[in-house]
Amino acid sequence: MSEINFSLDGQALQAQAGETILSAARRQGFSIPTLCHQDGLNPAGNCRACVVEIDGERALAASCCRQPREGMAISLNNQRVRRSQSMVLELLAAKAPAEAHTLNSELTQWCEALNVGPARFAKPAAPAPDRSHPAITVQLDACIQCMRCVRACRDEQVNDVLGIAGWGADTRISFDADEALGSSSCVACGECVQACPTGALTPANGAALQAADAVVDSVCPYCGVGCQLSYRVKDNKILEAIGRDGPANQGRLCVKGRYGYDYVSSDQRLTTPLIRREGVAKDPADIARVRRGELALSALFREATWEEALDLAAAGLRRLLDSHASGAASPLAGFGSAKGSNEEAYLFQKLIRQGLSTNNVDHCTRLCHASSVAALLEGLGSGSVSNPVLDAQYAEVILLIGANPSSNHPVAASFIKNAVKAGATLIVADPRRAPMARFATHHLAFRPDTDVALLNALLHVIIAEGLTDPDFIAARVNGFEALKASVAECTPERMSEICGIAPEVLRAVARRYASAKSAMIFWGMGISQHVHGTDNARCLIALAMITGQIGRPGCGLHPLRGQNNVQGASDAGMIPMMMPNYQRIALAEVREHFEALWATPLDPQPGLTVVEIIHAAYEGRIKGMFIEGENPAMSDPDLDHARAALARLEHLVVQDIFATETALLADVILPASAQLEKWGSYTNTDRLIQLGRPALTPPGQARQDLWIIEQLARRIGLGWHYWQTADGDGQLAAEAPTARVFEEMRAVMAPLAGVPWSRLRREEAVVTPAPREGEPGHAVIFEQSFPTHSGRAQLVPASFMPGPEQPDHDFPLVLSTGRVLEHWHTGAMTRRAEVLDALSPAPLLSMHAEDAAGLRLHEGQAIRMSSRHGEVEALLQISPEVRRGQVFLPFCYWEAAANVLTGSALDPTGKIPGFKVTAVRVDAVQIKATQNE
Ligand code: SF4
Ligand code: SF4
Ligand code: FES
Repeated sequence: MSEINFSLDGQALQAQAGETILSAARRQGFSIPTLCHQDGLNPAGNCRACVVEIDGERALAASCCRQPREGMAISLNNQRVRRSQSMVLELLAAKAPAEAHTLNSELTQWCEALNVGPARFAKPAAPAPDRSHPAITVQLDACIQCMRCVRACRDEQVNDVLGIAGWGADTRISFDADEALGSSSCVACGECVQACPTGALTPANGAALQAADAVVDSVCPYCGVGCQLSYRVKDNKILEAIGRDGPANQGRLCVKGRYGYDYVSSDQRLTTPLIRREGVAKDPADIARVRRGELALSALFREATWEEALDLAAAGLRRLLDSHASGAASPLAGFGSAKGSNEEAYLFQKLIRQGLSTNNVDHCTRLCHASSVAALLEGLGSGSVSNPVLDAQYAEVILLIGANPSSNHPVAASFIKNAVKAGATLIVADPRRAPMARFATHHLAFRPDTDVALLNALLHVIIAEGLTDPDFIAARVNGFEALKASVAECTPERMSEICGIAPEVLRAVARRYASAKSAMIFWGMGISQHVHGTDNARCLIALAMITGQIGRPGCGLHPLRGQNNVQGASDAGMIPMMMPNYQRIALAEVREHFEALWATPLDPQPGLTVVEIIHAAYEGRIKGMFIEGENPAMSDPDLDHARAALARLEHLVVQDIFATETALLADVILPASAQLEKWGSYTNTDRLIQLGRPALTPPGQARQDLWIIEQLARRIGLGWHYWQTADGDGQLAAEAPTARVFEEMRAVMAPLAGVPWSRLRREEAVVTPAPREGEPGHAVIFEQSFPTHSGRAQLVPASFMPGPEQPDHDFPLVLSTGRVLEHWHTGAMTRRAEVLDALSPAPLLSMHAEDAAGLRLHEGQAIRMSSRHGEVEALLQISPEVRRGQVFLPFCYWEAAANVLTGSALDPTGKIPGFKVTAVRVDAVQIKATQNE
């Protein structure tokens, strides 16, 4: 790339091609005031604070918009330029409120830097503040109309809420059609607040006027996007979260990362070890009683010392270990957490395998993408995504199927929207019309549970019309003829009858995907959470394989991973059939390797999966469990059965930060640390391993998770010493134990070989696989071959089969469950985050207006929803997002725990339940007073 030589105040400077004067000058040490400019936003050039004088030009030029030419001579530090800059600043400062709204006003800082004195101009009347939103305060008396907020909202996050209203002197920033922010369609990503240079938009909690004691760089604890952020901390509380320029988020955040941090300071945090009171039986009905405030936690549990609680917790596990068979017949099992760090996941599975002598260890991947991973391992030899989310920018076509990233992965959604704005074609396939459909050329609102029919039709068209990539198939794919035979009868006309999408639309979509120069497929739990989830994913893999849409930038397969560390927890071996790095426990050489390393015999039988463990607990085969940071009493299907199963356990140890629904059924509760209180590495959906740092001290006697796991391990008889005396008593976050565990993982996980802890500390984020230390990792994989025995992909045909949850006369509607933007998973954290719960406080059942009218139901009405498995009550929301015959309920609300309704039938390969399809009926709740009359 050729450089452009120019001079600034007589000094020779160089600019890269396309670089502005401002950027080149700042990079080389010059200070130029700016207000409307922000790195990453499109230039606006409207404030004129950044003007410079260009030799031979009459008018001053805005350096943020202008690129230098070869030989250009530019002046910055002369009287004309400085007078002009100062006048701009003085005029804008004249409008500023007498009382600043932020300690960090860029306008004030530039005025000070350029010695701009008190404004000589009259102040206009101040508009009234808008405090209608729980997260953001609007005080437009400080607004300088730089439009950074508008560009952040429109161009960056593509939410299109902010705009301009009024004329002339009345011109102002507005939300939607000039509404109060609280009643607008704002999704509270806070990008506008982060962009605002003057305090016109600030966090509603007053954080902008408080000086922080420290600013700590870390990573968001919620979804798999893995946004890097900085926490401003004061008095052991988070004041504010600010997006950092991480590889996965480029400074962006969503509402959860931005405003969902205060769960960590909730007065509901567990601060003392708890032991179930003698004689108090485990009763699932206590969950609702405690949640409704009718029963105190202290009625079920008494406080204990750490010694007593750990001794009791370990003794119960030890007793079951000593008195029963081990391995596949073991009465013991463990659920770890995809919210915890890689190091915690590694130690947790090691404790279960080495200490409890069983492979009965699993986590929420089983409820999320287990079927995707099963299909990817079977077909491509690796369960990982092939390309990062940001590769959407290189894709000509993006197929988004069974995913709702604007709620579940909002920052990923913003990059997909950016790609569409830049010209990519987006095809959305989803029975629900979720917000991304607005950006799609085609929205395939197919009938729920007919994914295989839809995808087989696409495969049929591609093969029948000769749109495959025969060279790619010949070089890299096995099983094409079998696939071809399998879809030969799947004409668009036949499949249309099943999936409900018109044949011509199926043809158009197949042609568009197959003929694109580059195409990405993103999918979510709408694909995986089915009893035929593995078949769904097999079809998606086949689409990419027969068209050669893999192994290049912008070409690939990306199952959007849910939890912040579900990729890392699976990588670390917290799954019943695999040791760390997906090494199969059934293989003798794998076992021998770990047996030598851990000096322990290992059971060759894969363990039970999440739902199998719950069934076994119900039947009395599993008698004791250690559950760290998981909440199966909310997340498992057929919840009444799952809760009854947990209550039947002879010994349940729960390690968590809150008294979750699961913890309420425990014998011992061990108070743990939140992500913001500890060191750890986390692997995002892109295979990017990133560093989490402690920003706060855990409350009361809560302890680091690694310390707790090790204390239990020692009491069970393992001679672990990751946590050494010099590292403290587990209350404060010590870095060394985390680094020791990480280094042990690195020694047994080839993709981490090139990432010593010191590199992670230095670089903050390293994409894996990173086999060598001096080289970057591989963001795009499968470029030349697949990690299968033959190096070739294996196609596995799938046939459409109706699932077990068919609607009928008694249960005529189809329920799908999922997340809402403001809440994460079972709500354990987000329901305790003030802003998030204020934004989305109650369970709402979404229903089509015509269905509601047919049932004589109206918006906001209390309804009861029943399935073959249970019933819940919620409020009705009329929504255009769901088709007739469908309803949608989020699963984060204990008041209407959606999984009471879902069945526990499993995908035979991935062992994932079919959460996405449940036959239900909806009735009005009769108000008791009326009944009694
Ligand atoms: S609200 Fe802030 S970011 Fe938006 S135009 Fe006004 S000063 Fe600029
Ligand atoms: S997109 Fe995900 S990782 Fe990023 S801020 Fe939101 S919840 Fe956190
Ligand atoms: S910063 Fe350049 S015109 Fe505003």
